[in-house]
Amino acid sequence: MRTQVAIIGAGPAGLLMSHLLARAGVDAVLVENRSREYVEARIRAGILEASSVELLDEVGVGERLHREGMAHRGIHLQWPGTRHHLDFVDLIGRGVWVYGQTEVTKDLGAARDADGQVAFYEASEVELHDVDSDAPWVSLVAADGEPVRIDAALIAGCDGFHGPSRGNVPGSTVLERDYPFAWLGVLASVAPSTDELIYAWHPNGFALHSMRSTEVSRFYLQVHPDEDIDEWSDDRIWTELSTRFAHDGWHLQDGPVTEKSVLPMRSFVSAPMRHGRLFLAGDSAHIVPPAGAKGLNLAIADVALLAPAMAAYVHDGSTTLLDDYSEAALRRVWRCTHFSWWMTMMLHRHGDDFDAELQLAQLRLTQSSRAAATSLAENYAGLPFSATPR
Ligand code: APR
Ligand code: PHB
Repeated sequence: MRTQVAIIGAGPAGLLMSHLLARAGVDAVLVENRSREYVEARIRAGILEASSVELLDEVGVGERLHREGMAHRGIHLQWPGTRHHLDFVDLIGRGVWVYGQTEVTKDLGAARDADGQVAFYEASEVELHDVDSDAPWVSLVAADGEPVRIDAALIAGCDGFHGPSRGNVPGSTVLERDYPFAWLGVLASVAPSTDELIYAWHPNGFALHSMRSTEVSRFYLQVHPDEDIDEWSDDRIWTELSTRFAHDGWHLQDGPVTEKSVLPMRSFVSAPMRHGRLFLAGDSAHIVPPAGAKGLNLAIADVALLAPAMAAYVHDGSTTLLDDYSEAALRRVWRCTHFSWWMTMMLHRHGDDFDAELQLAQLRLTQSSRAAATSLAENYAGLPFSATPR
């Protein structure tokens, strides 16, 4: 079959790409190796920057988000003796939305259904060919066992960290950082004990209190990278959460744990984000540690640049935006990579007491200095897409 854009991967990046291209009158075919049910049930982070929400609104997929999502003015930062609320709306005039990535994926999946763009779920043996020629193509075996060949003008590699696209960019430079810790992620059927997220520094390690709804809470605990999940009974989880979040006059409500897993953490950037007719977007090109809540937003920001660039090429043969894509996207990627690294290093227990005192000094500065608070707020709530440094 022939299409204008072949999209590899139906995570948030691939689905949003499909929808934006459909709106721009560009035909696209989506190729995903997992089932749609699997993709829509995958538990991931859930913070949307104001700019991400504006884009979803603009393209008609923000309706349920506004109904069921939670608008937050800011976050709480905590360290022993202090819980400090940073009010982003007050500081910079923008807040964030808490809305599960699973929900974003479902909303984008529904938009794709309405658009009528073709999709192959449960495809196997997905391979990219001749991406540096003017006739790139994708081969796959469809769910029914039939071999399929897709010829396209352009390919969008939205297949996440483990997908095949990045391997088709020869000579790329990979810069990465491992961290000496991981997160134990916990989903619990209990009302959040807080109005807005709590990021807590504690001598035992970092803890985060997030949420999915008024009935479901999401927690994370800093643990060792090789932590054995079987060592974490529900009792131990609640005890450790209560310890790390302890604050005068405040009580953590516990409840049934419905899911728990250990999540590795790394920073990773692969550049350039283009080879010939292949363009990478989202986790296929970069990974950030989750403390800055940037992964989903960066994927959305990439697609916000790439979809119009591809549409301009398909409609007018114009290559200006496509030629600019990798550099423009990487500028935002590195800004968010820095912020995510900075939040990670400020909040997680590592090193010695000297490191701990530096962390506490930095945390206290966010309380005493409006400039420091404003900088954190601008990065967390996100720079407007139009303000990506160029
Ligand atoms: N063929 C087709 N699809 C593939 C292949 C393959 N060989 N390998 C992987 N995929 C699919 C995955 O199954 C997944 O659905 O590509 C998709 C990539 O989606 P994500 O990993 O969600 O990446 P992305 O869309 O870039 O979204 C980034 O997701 O990982 C989180 O925190 C991250 O929030 C960020 C967001
Ligand atoms: C989440 O709700 O899963 C979440 C929130 C904020 C983060 C990371 C994860 O920084």
